[in-house]
Amino acid sequence: MLPDAARSLLCPVCRNSLVPALGGNRLACAEGHSFDAARQGYFNLLVGKGTVFEADTAAMVAARFDFLSKGHYKPLAEAVAELAMPALRGPHAAVLDAGTGTGHYLKAILDASPASAVGLDISKFALRRAARLNPDAVNLVCDVWQPLPVADAAVDVVTVVFAPRNAAEFARVLRPGGRLIVVTPRPGHLAEIAGQTGMLGIEPAKEERLAASLEGHFAPHSTRELDLDLGLEPADVGHLALMGPAGHHLDPTALDTITAALPPLTKVSARFRISVFEPLTPPPA
Ligand SMILES: C[S@@+](CC[C@H](N)C(=O)[O-])C[C@H]1O[C@@H](n2cnc3c(N)ncnc32)[C@H](O)[C@@H]1O
Ligand SMILES: [Zn+2]
Repeated sequence: MLPDAARSLLCPVCRNSLVPALGGNRLACAEGHSFDAARQGYFNLLVGKGTVFEADTAAMVAARFDFLSKGHYKPLAEAVAELAMPALRGPHAAVLDAGTGTGHYLKAILDASPASAVGLDISKFALRRAARLNPDAVNLVCDVWQPLPVADAAVDVVTVVFAPRNAAEFARVLRPGGRLIVVTPRPGHLAEIAGQTGMLGIEPAKEERLAASLEGHFAPHSTRELDLDLGLEPADVGHLALMGPAGHHLDPTALDTITAALPPLTKVSARFRISVFEPLTPPPA
């Protein structure tokens, strides 16, 4: 069975509604385009030439899964869920997690609310994990830079945790009064280990730059800063290095050598900003 949110899905080829078939194992439109669920339960809605973006690899996703499963970022997931709750109160509440990755943040929301959910990611390796973690969500492989396969005004909350943001599309799929919740790193995030492990991809997103990237579609609503003092084992540090953007370039053997020299516990500060935005209502015609 697919959740309510599946009723608002659009065909990525012709933009007609996608309707669940075969007991939820197929999504099909009236034009005859159809998409079968993968064995793990996600749907691949990527069509056409695809994106130039390099999707997260199986190794990066495995590292993220192991790190997040140990609960190191649990307070962040709980804070995101808490901020999402006020907009997820109605009986048909729906949430879309863009760049859902392994699905850990969406799971925290679904643990706290009966909302129906869509998880999007361009990496099928990520969605294999997400589909297992959130079997009640519709998990879709798609590119956030393409028109999203979701109807206008279909969801109450869009969450984006360390993932790309398509402001126009997020605004289109949100209902009036909905919320966009964005998590970004603040200066000093993972500073103790960034240089050592070659995690050069972490660029703190300035608050103004984030707001500017959403301008014309969203207005800032509120901001919460969250700092975590982590005590990480060598394997955790390795996972943290591999799960981020630098995971595309890091040499796992060199990383093993670095982490093998670490003490049993390394103190690491994680610094997050959770920014909540409201969609701008278009001026009356
Ligand atoms: C740093 S990870 C964050 C994943 C998850 N939100 C988390 O915090 O654990 C970024 C995610 O965005 C996905 N992603 C990157 N570019 C994308 C795109 N163009 N469309 C959809 N997902 C994308 C990646 O595959 C990856 O899972
Ligand atoms: Zn179609």
